[in-house]
Amino acid sequence: MHIAAISGSLRTDSINTRLLRNAQLFAPEGMTVDVIDISAIPLFNGDVESAGLPEAVRIVKDQVLRADGLLLATPEYNYTYSGVIKNALDWLSRGPDRPFPGKPVAVVSASPGNFGGIRAQTELRRLMHGLGAHVLPQPELIVPQAPSKFDEQGILIDERTQTTYRTLLNNFRDLINCLQQGYVP
Ligand code: FNR
Repeated sequence: MHIAAISGSLRTDSINTRLLRNAQLFAPEGMTVDVIDISAIPLFNGDVESAGLPEAVRIVKDQVLRADGLLLATPEYNYTYSGVIKNALDWLSRGPDRPFPGKPVAVVSASPGNFGGIRAQTELRRLMHGLGAHVLPQPELIVPQAPSKFDEQGILIDERTQTTYRTLLNNFRDLINCLQQGYVP
């Protein structure tokens, strides 16, 4: 079972990208998680789209289409998800080969603040519902005061967050299995 992961932050030291890079450590057996680089995706422009899908978008779209599930992490910018992730999702949501309808999706967030990006996460979940994805309802993995929860190598060391991450990835595996067997929970 293969999971594609997309971060809504392009920062080298992003805590959200760090959170995604840790997913493999807490994933159940048989699940692989790859973080996809979306930094080459241009700003959405309908004229560019009409002229032909940019290669950078094609590459990301193919990775998402091939994946059994999609794991999204978003920073919270001014009470909602980042423009970076919205821009990528806008590009991917169009054309004849749309990856989101029926796609299992899990959403997580991290913030240096006390709310862990929950407002951004909630908005992103709503957006993914709108695109027809099957959004994993529980648990809601938020990481407040995130910089203190990783060690210097970027490993997630907070035990409560580790436990929630394990539960989330186990539940995600179960959701994907259900959907692949034609059962909609
Ligand atoms: C922020 N930040 C922020 N944090 C938060 O918890 N709620 C918010 O509404 C905002 N708003 C906000 C706006 C803008 C424009 C920036 C640049 C930042 C802080 C943000 O969570 C912090 O910079 C994170 O470190 C960004 O995530 P990455 O890049 O570390 O993944």
